[in-house]
Amino acid sequence: MQSIAPYRQAAAKASRKGFFAMQLKKASQRSGIIGSADDVTSVVLAAMQDAPNARLRELADAFVRHMHAFAREVQLDEAEYGIGIDFLNRIGQATNDSHNEGILFADAIGFSTLVCLLNNGSGGATETAAALLGPFWRMKSPHTENGGSIVRSPTPGPDLFVAAFVKDAAGRPVAGAEVDVWQSSPVGLYENQDATQADMNLRGKFITDAEGRFSFRSVKPAGYPVPTAGPVGDMLRAQKRHPYRPAHLHFLIFKPGFKTLITQIFVDDDKNLESDVVFGVTRELVGDFRRHDAGAPPAVDVKPPWFTLDAAFVMAEGEARLPVPPIK
Ligand SMILES: [Fe+2]
Repeated sequence: MQSIAPYRQAAAKASRKGFFAMQLKKASQRSGIIGSADDVTSVVLAAMQDAPNARLRELADAFVRHMHAFAREVQLDEAEYGIGIDFLNRIGQATNDSHNEGILFADAIGFSTLVCLLNNGSGGATETAAALLGPFWRMKSPHTENGGSIVRSPTPGPDLFVAAFVKDAAGRPVAGAEVDVWQSSPVGLYENQDATQADMNLRGKFITDAEGRFSFRSVKPAGYPVPTAGPVGDMLRAQKRHPYRPAHLHFLIFKPGFKTLITQIFVDDDKNLESDVVFGVTRELVGDFRRHDAGAPPAVDVKPPWFTLDAAFVMAEGEARLPVPPIK
């Protein structure tokens, strides 16, 4: 180890105590030797400052500052630190090809919705048609003709007919957009959670027509509890929170030249509409699901009651990017 004695002697001769202390602190930071809790944050930030990627530097710097401030604010004790690390590890261990506990955790603390709203609707200043992706989007859902059904295996429940219009910010139709749709069944299960449903049941991919329209037949989704077998379930129980999402349809609309629109439309009569466990409901996204008890049904095999939903989506100009699928 390099001796600091020569520096001490030189400093004593010069009687420049303030300067000496400053030099010692700098040397301490360079070597990473920490004097007390007060030093830790600045030493760690200094260690990370040579990252060539400026954005990585900014993110890591803020992350460390906020994590250290968190520990200081709550005076985190060692047992709590251990519980936190165990919680983090269990999130990873609970994640597999068909379940993403990391996204579920981010959703359940409102982090996903916050990031969504910060990046859509004028940086969070206005309402937006965007909503969180959630943990159940799969790529390669089956191409389905406009007006076709996404019910791919017997799925009892009220019939639902959706007609939607995709437009740009000026109200002009967006033709040729790819629209992914996915939803839970009338008992609240996605096909990947339910052995009784066919692969890709209640999932489909549509292309908007020249008028920017797409439509499909389905069944009315039900609300569902998020998975509670993992650490997020433990958190919800400890906080006395129910695990339910209000019923909804998911949409992902993709066309080059437009920012990919990821959104959900919520069933307006759901009892959990105002207490979504993952904080996904915004006023803009509550759908107008109309119940029909009489009249001519939209198809010969439809029995009342059936439901219709008219929806409109506005796409903003921007970069068309697909998210990483949370499951395979
Ligand atoms: Fe969902």
